[in-house]
Amino acid sequence: MGDDECVIVVREFDPSKDLTSVEEVEKRCEVGPNGKLSLFTDLLGDPICRVRHSSAFLMLVAELSSTKEIVGMIRGCIKTVTCGKKISRNAKNNDPTKPLPVYTKLAYILGLRVSPSHRRMGIGLKLVLRMEDWFVQNGAEYSYLATENDNQASVNLFTDKCGYSKFRTPSILVNPVFAHRLPVSNRATLIKLSPSDAELLYRRRFSTTEFFPRDIDSVLNNSLNLGTFLAVPRGCCYTKESWLGSDKFLCDPPESWAVLSVWNCKDVFRLEVRGASRMKKTLAKTTRIVDKLLPFLRLPSIPEVFRPFGLHFLYGLGGEGPRAAKLVNALCAHAHNLAKEGGCSVVATEVANREPLKVGVPHWKRFSCDEDLWCIKRLGEDYSDGSVGDWTKSPPGLSIFVDPREV
Ligand SMILES: CC(C)(COP(=O)(O)OP(=O)(O)OC[C@H]1O[C@@H](n2cnc3c(N)ncnc32)[C@H](O)[C@@H]1OP(=O)(O)O)[C@@H](O)C(=O)NCCC(=O)NCCS
Repeated sequence: MGDDECVIVVREFDPSKDLTSVEEVEKRCEVGPNGKLSLFTDLLGDPICRVRHSSAFLMLVAELSSTKEIVGMIRGCIKTVTCGKKISRNAKNNDPTKPLPVYTKLAYILGLRVSPSHRRMGIGLKLVLRMEDWFVQNGAEYSYLATENDNQASVNLFTDKCGYSKFRTPSILVNPVFAHRLPVSNRATLIKLSPSDAELLYRRRFSTTEFFPRDIDSVLNNSLNLGTFLAVPRGCCYTKESWLGSDKFLCDPPESWAVLSVWNCKDVFRLEVRGASRMKKTLAKTTRIVDKLLPFLRLPSIPEVFRPFGLHFLYGLGGEGPRAAKLVNALCAHAHNLAKEGGCSVVATEVANREPLKVGVPHWKRFSCDEDLWCIKRLGEDYSDGSVGDWTKSPPGLSIFVDPREV
């Protein structure tokens, strides 16, 4: 390759002329180790789809100056999230013993891709550095990204070259959507909350959870949000008919309750598992046919994942009381049935590694990822709030709030 061919220009993605070439790079980039099954993402013609629901986002491309060929890209977004909590003596705080969230401006990197023919030439590094410039210009205090633990190239790039440190290792839990409906426990009553009721509940109970987005209202009012569902023990005083709002509910909640929200990723991107043998595909298809023909047997069939498929993402999962995990289980069954109606192949969620409610989330180990690696970096020295110190050094909490806009 001649020297001038190697001159790389990093510039903002231009949808009017870059769509096809960006899609080409995306197709050539396998995520997952070579030789095994790999996961392809179809962004449905919109390369910015995975960041565009955040209030500030940017996509950059790396272009060869000589041929104008696009050989890499990166997406990023910035939002305000909870990074810790504090006890405030402020008069406005009704209950002085109740911790308040400490917010920070957090940037997120995703969708970094470099064409296989142009790797190890410093392009990935250049894209990250340029994205970080934009983060800093826009006041972000931290930057983070999620990657697979065994993605050596990406882990090395971020930890060795860019100063990120390994921060959290939440679990991605994935459950197939069967051809039959799942029964929802008759020991639970499910109530669909309005976005404003959901907002109130989340702000009151979850705003001190790490990564809680301060603009939770824009998540809940987004058209991709399919609803927030509350589960209470059947027989308690709360029912759909007698529901008087989250305010009343939180003043006198039942001993146990649980909540979760459903996000429609199917309209944002499709996934596809590639590299499976013909035998595996046939076997999977056979289980589906049997399940479709005999749904009353409730056989756990393997969904269509070898062709582009959609998913629903469960977020904002939480609850209180000794039966909370059981109630989460009922909510997951309901979410499964919603995903089945929506033509999805899987339901996924991501929770903190030590999340106590994890036991209530049904998932297939083979589809799931025990430790998704989140790396973080502190971008500036000035903090908007000094009371948490350096977030990157803080121990993990029991829960995290995974923003569905960034799935
Ligand atoms: C990860 C990826 C973007 C790196 O892009 P790249 O342009 O090859 O990276 P760079 O040339 O800038 O490499 C910078 C540093 O990263 C590390 N690195 C990059 N590729 C590596 C590899 N294959 N093995 C080990 N370390 C690697 C090295 O520390 C490297 O510095 P060095 O070349 O001086 O040793 C690229 O491999 C890719 O597109 N992979 C598939 C998609 C993906 O996994 N994206 C990351 C998701 S977060």
